[in-house]
Amino acid sequence: MPDLNVIPQEHKINRSDRQKLLGHRSFVIWFTGLSGSGKSTLANLLEQNLHSKGILTCILDGDNIRNGLNKDLGFSENDRIENIRRLGELCRLFTDAGVVVLTAFISPFRSDRSCVRELMGKDFHEVYVKCPLDVCESRDVKGLYSKARNGSISNFTGIDSPYEEPVDPELTIDTSSMTIEESAEVLDKYITKLLIKDRT
Ligand SMILES: Nc1ncnc2c1ncn2[C@@H]1O[C@H](COP(=O)(O)OP(=O)(O)OP(=O)(O)O)[C@@H](O)[C@H]1O
Ligand SMILES: [Mg+2]
Repeated sequence: MPDLNVIPQEHKINRSDRQKLLGHRSFVIWFTGLSGSGKSTLANLLEQNLHSKGILTCILDGDNIRNGLNKDLGFSENDRIENIRRLGELCRLFTDAGVVVLTAFISPFRSDRSCVRELMGKDFHEVYVKCPLDVCESRDVKGLYSKARNGSISNFTGIDSPYEEPVDPELTIDTSSMTIEESAEVLDKYITKLLIKDRT
């Protein structure tokens, strides 16, 4: 039930003022892919790269958000929807603040990613971090695949819960056939174009 006593406030300084102050545009780079595909690795490399160029960034990483802001949410249908709604709102707040947002969530469902795309419009850039399940499983960075295989965790993406591949992502990076450095280079090229395009 909407609260009729909540009245949206106008502010004197807006996103465009903040972007002028910072000297760059703000947008969201949304990494999606299986656990262990390389989302956090690439988000961190990209952030270091952008930071060194004087660009204000922020990483929103799955585990950190689930341990903090979304601590109260589980993995039921309703909680998943609420999780993604809050992530979308976070992206909006951060881009309003002028920040280049890098997100690293598995975000396995197309409908969830579409929700954020709808909310963010042209500021949403989906990067599919593509990697076959067997490669992710052999990396097993967090030991979660072996737990999923022996049944100690359930609803694990790729094992007993689906991952829906992006249909038309802005960028795909195949981390099973590229080195970390090559992957970072592809990303760097994409972002550089984006920053240049956004300045015109
Ligand atoms: N080309 C590559 N790009 C990124 N990571 C790679 C690449 N090749 C190998 N790796 C390795 O794959 C692993 C990816 O782990 P990472 O934690 O980044 O995955 P993730 O997608 O964030 O997983 P999770 O969803 O569980 O957080 C790292 O150990 C990294 O060194
Ligand atoms: Mg990660």
